[in-house]
Amino acid sequence: MARKIVITSGKGGVGKTTLTANLGRALADLGCRVVVIDVDFGLNNLDVVLGVENKIVYDLCDVVEGRCRIKQALIQDEHKCNLFILPSGNVSASSMISGQQIRLVINGLDGVFDYILIDCPAGIDVGFHRAVSCSDEAIVVATPSVPSLRDADKVITVLKSYKLDKIKVVVNRARGDLIMSDKMMYPKDISELLKTDLLGVLPEEDEVFLSSGYGLCKGSDSYKAYKVLANNLVKNTEKIYDVTNKYSGFFGSIRRSIKRGI
Ligand SMILES: Nc1ncnc2c1ncn2[C@@H]1O[C@H](COP(=O)(O)OP(=O)(O)OP(=O)(O)O)[C@@H](O)[C@H]1O
Ligand SMILES: [Mg+2]
Repeated sequence: MARKIVITSGKGGVGKTTLTANLGRALADLGCRVVVIDVDFGLNNLDVVLGVENKIVYDLCDVVEGRCRIKQALIQDEHKCNLFILPSGNVSASSMISGQQIRLVINGLDGVFDYILIDCPAGIDVGFHRAVSCSDEAIVVATPSVPSLRDADKVITVLKSYKLDKIKVVVNRARGDLIMSDKMMYPKDISELLKTDLLGVLPEEDEVFLSSGYGLCKGSDSYKAYKVLANNLVKNTEKIYDVTNKYSGFFGSIRRSIKRGI
């Protein structure tokens, strides 16, 4: 049976779609069969992040409304044969679609994939409930800022009412230099504050912002951090990528000074 995991946050723009795409790629690199599904009907852009926007013929709405079979709507990633995307549909059609209907589509993918990652819209309104009701586990993405943590806390409270198998938090856009100078919270403290186990930590990196449909550069900090994250998910381990590592010691303090522009 596939693990059905919703990627959610509360606050918008914290990196849910980026994480869905790159975690999908990292899991595929580990040999897992992965499908990423865009359930953010309003502001869907998972197809763009994965670079398949020009390949869409059918989408999730078409599957739900019986205009095509699931297989026809799935798009295979150009670089990883075991990674697929099921794009979202248009907004007006989506308002009629229920979580139950999406669940039926997802159940049809159960035997075919090991991981089903569901990209959720921000907030805790109907789109959020629709995405969560299709999932068995949740990853809450939070950045180390007060508004993001406050919203993550609210989302975790709502998620608990769904009695999911697992709820874990990923701290995105962590800055090792600021953590070392006590200007940013340690990811472990964030996990304690949210009373939720940490699944991973991802560094703030231009590479993520600039990366194309090809994915992250092998050897970049983000690539390594996603690898650790995917391993934690698959092997149920708790290794955390250390974003402070390159800012410790003599050369680390020079890097910190350069980052501060001194
Ligand atoms: N670790 C990171 N380092 C640098 N930039 C990042 C990182 N993670 C995400 N970003 C950038 O932040 C922006 C928002 O990311 P993304 O679209 O994934 O957020 P989202 O939570 O899905 O937003 P929405 O709530 O609107 O769906 C993007 O431009 C993305 O490239
Ligand atoms: Mg998004």
